[in-house]
Amino acid sequence: MISKPNRIAVILTSLLAMIALSLTGLISADPTVKKEVTFNKDVAPIFYKNCAECHRPNDIAPMSLMSYKDARPWARSIREKVAGREMPPWSPDPKYGEFLNDHRLAQKDVDTILAWVDQGAREGDPKELGTPPESVSTTGWQLGKPDAEFDIGKEFTVKPGNPDTIENFIVPTNFKEDKWVTSAEILPGNRKVVHHVIAFIQTPEMIAQFQKGEGRARAMMESKVFYREGTLTKVKADAPIIDDGCGDPSGGSAFQQPSTSEGGDAFGLLLAGYAPGKGVDIFPPGTAKKIPAGSMIVFQMHYSSYGGKFEGEQGDRTRLGLHFSSKPPERSLNTVGIQNHFFKILPGAANHEVTACYTFDGNVRLVSFMPHMHLRGKDMKYEALYPDGRRETLLWVPKFSFNWQAMYYLKKPVFLPKGAKVIITAHFDNSDKNKYNPDPQKAIRWGDPTYEEMMIGWMEYALDSGAGTDKVQPAATGQTSQKR
Ligand code: HEC
Repeated sequence: MISKPNRIAVILTSLLAMIALSLTGLISADPTVKKEVTFNKDVAPIFYKNCAECHRPNDIAPMSLMSYKDARPWARSIREKVAGREMPPWSPDPKYGEFLNDHRLAQKDVDTILAWVDQGAREGDPKELGTPPESVSTTGWQLGKPDAEFDIGKEFTVKPGNPDTIENFIVPTNFKEDKWVTSAEILPGNRKVVHHVIAFIQTPEMIAQFQKGEGRARAMMESKVFYREGTLTKVKADAPIIDDGCGDPSGGSAFQQPSTSEGGDAFGLLLAGYAPGKGVDIFPPGTAKKIPAGSMIVFQMHYSSYGGKFEGEQGDRTRLGLHFSSKPPERSLNTVGIQNHFFKILPGAANHEVTACYTFDGNVRLVSFMPHMHLRGKDMKYEALYPDGRRETLLWVPKFSFNWQAMYYLKKPVFLPKGAKVIITAHFDNSDKNKYNPDPQKAIRWGDPTYEEMMIGWMEYALDSGAGTDKVQPAATGQTSQKR
């Protein structure tokens, strides 16, 4: 019970608080409309922070917003896209997970931009324009000068009229000692034709294996599942059909393997990636990816004329910049692509479901997710199934867009105990309602080309086992099956 005088005090303070609240409400009812909003003082800092990544000169967005001169003609459109929350693009459902690279605008920034347009989109005092961050520069590295820099080794020419070219370039690191990578950045040489890039590490053991023809890549090619068509890999038409990978002992995958020095993907261990809207790779504090001495770097380049039309031949010389930690990290960072290779999407199917599963056999902390599908990809969900039966949604991208192959870095890593399973559920739209569908008449299976499909839930995770350095062992073996 609250005694009487105290009760009065409580009532009084709440009254006072209410008055104070309504007063501040009055004063700040529409702060941005009262004060004069200008590009130089108020809007430029927001554009630098939330739009620069794509709206820099010669980047993936159609126009730069980095100067008043560039941004002013777009004021009306900016108002519309910002008010409608279409820009900056952000696909995950905010109900699940919190992500570091969530570039959505705060309400006060939305208000500032709208007020700027409504007040006539003025430039303001040039003295009030801050210096743009280095990331705004056209050609520069977003992460600053790298500790080591590589390129694909030559100028590659992309010919017009060729919708998909996948080329692998293998370059030596010449590293005499092991390196620990804390961040990596891929700088496309020609954004008109570079659709996405994946950089892999080929360790000396792998190089030796490949040379002896014992590598997993070779095994994969020689298996009954895949075949090569030029530079592209596709699943064979008569490969078994498994849409529900989780209901199959293989998990749906012919080739699903954590990216550690013990395993690795077809070309090695996943190091870094570039895709429109993805951003750079900054590994969480205390973690790093290891490049053993003597390793090679494989650039898997996906050139495509989808999106960026071009005339004549186009040259490209893509670069990779790496930043190192001076000492081994507390935890090494691994990658697994949870994938289903055996789905078949029938012609016209509007909501075809495909699942893939992966079970960890050690304690891990998940740090990032990157859904990957092609033009028929509709949505993707990541769920954790804990050993106690609890099922939790980790990421839900309800409207997947091929143009936004974004990577989502968790604000707080998610702990998964040994035995936890990750369930990836994807839907594909192969109907004529999907305006990006290249051919609704065709049954679709796994394949590298954009006009075929993929289904991969990429994840990066740190092993939870103390201060392992080069002794770190893969926590996950997954369920792979080559014996079909
Ligand atoms: C991750 C990349 C990315 C970010 C971040 C981003 N944009 Fe965009 N924006 C694009 C791309 C690509 C397009 C063109 C294709 C589209 O509309 O999806 C676009 C289109 C637009 C358009 C429409 C242009 C037209 O044709 O009318 C406006 C306006 C716009 N963006 C404003 C912004 C603003 C303002 C911000 C920051 C608050 C922002 N964008 C952040 C990539 C981005």
